[in-house]
Amino acid sequence: MAIKTIIEPFKIKMVEPIRMSSEEERIEYLEIAHNNTFLLKSDNVIIDLLTDSGTSAMSAKQWAGVMEGDESYAGSSSWLKMEAQIKDQTGCKYILPTHQGRAGERILYGHLGGPGKVFISNTHFDTTRANIEFSGSTAYDIPIEEGKNPALEYPFKGNMDTAKLEELILGHGAKNIGAVILTVTNNSGGGQPVSMKNAKAISKICKKHKVLFILDSCRIAENAYFIKHREKGFGNYTYLDIAKEMYRLADGAVMSLKKDGLVNMGGFISLRNQELAEACQNLLIITEGFATYGGLSGRDMEAIAQGLQEVYRPDYLRYRIKSTGFLGDNLHKMGVPIMRPTGGHAVYIDAKAFYPHIPVDQYPGQALVLELYKKGGIRAVEIGSVMFGKYDVNGKLVPATMELVRLAMPRRVYTQSHVEYILEVFEELIKEKDQAKGLKIIKEPQFLRHFTAHFEVIED
Ligand code: F0G
Repeated sequence: MAIKTIIEPFKIKMVEPIRMSSEEERIEYLEIAHNNTFLLKSDNVIIDLLTDSGTSAMSAKQWAGVMEGDESYAGSSSWLKMEAQIKDQTGCKYILPTHQGRAGERILYGHLGGPGKVFISNTHFDTTRANIEFSGSTAYDIPIEEGKNPALEYPFKGNMDTAKLEELILGHGAKNIGAVILTVTNNSGGGQPVSMKNAKAISKICKKHKVLFILDSCRIAENAYFIKHREKGFGNYTYLDIAKEMYRLADGAVMSLKKDGLVNMGGFISLRNQELAEACQNLLIITEGFATYGGLSGRDMEAIAQGLQEVYRPDYLRYRIKSTGFLGDNLHKMGVPIMRPTGGHAVYIDAKAFYPHIPVDQYPGQALVLELYKKGGIRAVEIGSVMFGKYDVNGKLVPATMELVRLAMPRRVYTQSHVEYILEVFEELIKEKDQAKGLKIIKEPQFLRHFTAHFEVIED
């Protein structure tokens, strides 16, 4: 019989203890955190699935690189290694280091944006949208229809609706388009991949109208895995070659290296256009740091140069995608409504379907986040109306398209037994489904409210 178990393709050299807690303790911690899991102390979390961003375990080679980091202010050898790696992968001539993804977004979209400008994406990530709106511009999300139906099985639910793209460009006028941003994989749309065919079609439309096409390439290695195994014609490509082909369709990219860079901090902007790159470099130097380190230490850049190679290794990517799939597929078998098929970095639960008795203006996603923490010490994040909801002129909630809860898997951190524990916690939540209660927001800031909002449970 063929051996089916896909093992973690690493041995563990260093461990980080997990502090166990009881359900009673966790109820108390939630009260102190105003029912917002962003406000919890991480020591009080057993399994932290809040994000896959900056939470990766680095390899022995990356840690060895940390010792070799060149901390020179200008012309650091660690920067040259990082720059060479990114130039090779993106095919772009101009590479700017940033301390994380949103710093690159602020620089690039702040420069391209401003009042009257329009940005178009399959789905803008929350920081992307916030940076665009903060500049006075408008951000449009145009995922394909299939991407809006959580239960539907479809191979590339992250795709952008290209007919709508052309309509929006014509409607607003090409000169008013700040950029078209393709997010791979589509994080806020369920971690779903984008096909090469879709990226090619977008590239063609952008070229035709002379509109800037930028990739948000946070998870481009994971996206490449799906292309190789789902899209016709890519079976014999390496994962890196698939990523390179996608990068070459765009005028540039913004990447948070905290995801597929396999590091805890870092980002970059890559551009082909000299004038644009120089404008961004000025902003970089004013706000992040000199052009050969951005906001990074030499040791960070050394780890990035190594991480960007490791992430494309076949054994790693197979383990990565299959282990997320193991969680998603087992939840699906248990009858938990999840975004199908399972995405690359996370499992997204359709909280509206899981808690149909909680109306959207009482945030069923946040209710599930709280139950997961209470029952199992598992920290997840709501991606629904808490994160993306708006108010109309009468102060009534305009809900998000979907009420999702994301279980994001840190890279190379948790093992299969951690996942089995998560599945058991869900078994308990299923039994007590009807008792979960909705919430109201009692305090919120103007931007990115999910990070700091306070919630109160609605008792019946
Ligand atoms: N774009 C995408 C698609 C992202 O997922 C993120 C971050 C960013 C940009 C911003 O990068 O955090 O380095 O400033 N996503 C994290 C998450 C925070 O949890 O999904 P950053």
